[in-house]
Amino acid sequence: MADDFIILHGRASSAVLEVSAGNVLWRHWGARLGDSLDLTPLQRAPSSFSLDRDIPLSMLPTFGMGWFGQSALLAHRSGCDFVQSFTRIDVVQRDATTAKLLMIDDVAQIAVTAALSLDFASDVLTIATTLTNTSAAPLEVQWLAAAALPLPSSIRVVRSWGGRHNNEFMVGEDALGDALWRRENRRGLTSHENFPGAVVLDDRGAAWAAQLAWSGNHCQTIEPLDDGRRQWQLGEWLAPGEVCLAPGAALQSPEVLATYTPHGPNGVAQNFHAAVRARMTWPGGKMRRRPVHLNTWEALYFEHDMADLTSLADAAAEIGIERFVLDDGWFEGRHDDRTSLGDWTPDLVKYPDGLAPLARHVTGLGMEFGLWVEPEMVNPDSNLYRAHPDWALQIAGRAQPTGRNQLVLDMTRTEVVEYLFEALAKLLADLPISYLKWDHNRALAPAAGKDGRATYRKQVLGTYALLDRIRAAFPEVEIESCAGGGGRNDAGIATRVHRFWTSDNNDAVSRIAIQRGFLQFMPPELMGAHIGASSAHATGRRQSLDFRAMVAMPGHLGVEMDPRTLDPAERARLARWIARHKDWRATLHGGETWSGTVSDSICWQAHGDTRSMLLFVYRVDPSVQRYSTTLRLPMLDQDRRYDVKALFPESATAIFDGSWLSTVGLPLSPLKAERDIVFRLSHTSA
Ligand code: GLA
Repeated sequence: MADDFIILHGRASSAVLEVSAGNVLWRHWGARLGDSLDLTPLQRAPSSFSLDRDIPLSMLPTFGMGWFGQSALLAHRSGCDFVQSFTRIDVVQRDATTAKLLMIDDVAQIAVTAALSLDFASDVLTIATTLTNTSAAPLEVQWLAAAALPLPSSIRVVRSWGGRHNNEFMVGEDALGDALWRRENRRGLTSHENFPGAVVLDDRGAAWAAQLAWSGNHCQTIEPLDDGRRQWQLGEWLAPGEVCLAPGAALQSPEVLATYTPHGPNGVAQNFHAAVRARMTWPGGKMRRRPVHLNTWEALYFEHDMADLTSLADAAAEIGIERFVLDDGWFEGRHDDRTSLGDWTPDLVKYPDGLAPLARHVTGLGMEFGLWVEPEMVNPDSNLYRAHPDWALQIAGRAQPTGRNQLVLDMTRTEVVEYLFEALAKLLADLPISYLKWDHNRALAPAAGKDGRATYRKQVLGTYALLDRIRAAFPEVEIESCAGGGGRNDAGIATRVHRFWTSDNNDAVSRIAIQRGFLQFMPPELMGAHIGASSAHATGRRQSLDFRAMVAMPGHLGVEMDPRTLDPAERARLARWIARHKDWRATLHGGETWSGTVSDSICWQAHGDTRSMLLFVYRVDPSVQRYSTTLRLPMLDQDRRYDVKALFPESATAIFDGSWLSTVGLPLSPLKAERDIVFRLSHTSA
């Protein structure tokens, strides 16, 4: 077979693969190349003590025939066929932006399909891989990379995100040296600990980034190669024995969303925001303005009382709330976090006539009514568990460790999913519910199905299927993905939900970093951001209402406190912030996002486009400088002048040249700690 080239171009990036007889080689993924490329097959000078057959980095490097790096596939048949090497390659489909490649190994009897598409508008390269067992004997699969991406020798560091409950999306930076870099998650859901993606940077400001669209276990590695490049693999982490492909069966990987940008982390955010936005499935086909929430959790916890809730709803409506979300505590016997998960009928002591009177009261006030559920969970102290103890994930002979006093239902069992669908469908059909907050408050251990085999991936697929079924049956209902705060925020579940709960930590100082991490991968309109109480329930710190509000402003705004506890002046102030958000949300939620830090504990975030944007400048710690710093905004149009107006605290408009603001910077007035300023920057009319 003569060499053939797959060339995909985005706006600012290109991907080039060389298809030869037994391999699909990575020739380039990075900066945009010219439209007409005259390419020649890769030829590398032989190197001493190397095998005579050269095996450079391919789309799916496999183990055993001379590729000594990380294999994108680890599989065997009772110890045999552990070597895989493709004997035939077919380009099944190709056009300007997509390609599908079929790679066949006639000896190990497997077929792999890799589907690629490079979206011109977002510059996001999407890759997914499917492995098919073409033999008559089963194939045990230990690892299948969803993608193996090439990284150039110029890269220096990798940024990745992780944390824990109340401390999600903390960024870490590792220098890339001679050793393998690896991050793994084995908690069964996306996890707080390891976000399934990363950003790789070179010294010149370019970035390569990827995220796995998957809500379960995952693994990513970056490995130095012997030609100076590195390969980056992302895929599902599989437990021992978890995937055994029967003859003819296939394993479909999740998708990897990958992007190159010359504009560093801000370019990555913009590309990912565009790609995630394009994947969203909104009721009616289009995102409508994000309604401002009041979520009852930190206002009431488990103390539900009809009179109190109706008065809370009245107070919510008065300050401009548009969606009232009834959190945990509403269902049969649920008075604390020890019981009742699984029993999805209203508690008749707290709600003698069910939830309908409250839901009608809320909708009568012009607000939407939302409800918290945690479908995949069951408390041992529940009617559901007493009736069906076998429905929880378990291994015969082993203890069932609880987490927050709960166990996990086996989402691979038809009767479990049927029960959950019926329970949720009844609530959604009987009540005017337009929103579900879908929680998942523990990690999986042990994750074994009825057959005793690991069931992590099937558990995720079971949840996806239930979400899809609910969406199909109730297409107008929006869903929020929550898992003890931000434990299930990823591009896989993003196609099925409409909002992420970012963190249970509503402390505004903590939130700045948490939200910046989230915004690296997801757009602001999906970021649940609530104005919490002072002191913050998660940290005990106190912050002004203005500061708390300004930090929450850019996201999908909500209130996570009881407005009735505020004095009239504070309550009016809160209402004013909600009104401002309503004025600003079209700018905040439709455009691009930039963020950065400057010296002296100042960080900033801007939303909109280069013609008109809102700029939030936050000071976290007290200044240590005698004079205040300037803030460079390199994304501004160099040849335009800007009206710069502080909207809060308000000040007169000043006019600056775009080139001045981008190169020298906006002068900032002194700012005390835990304060912020919001500006509007817009092209002058002249
Ligand atoms: C999790 C969520 C919270 C709240 C509680 C209810 O912790 O993150 O927002 O819904 O569960 O139990």
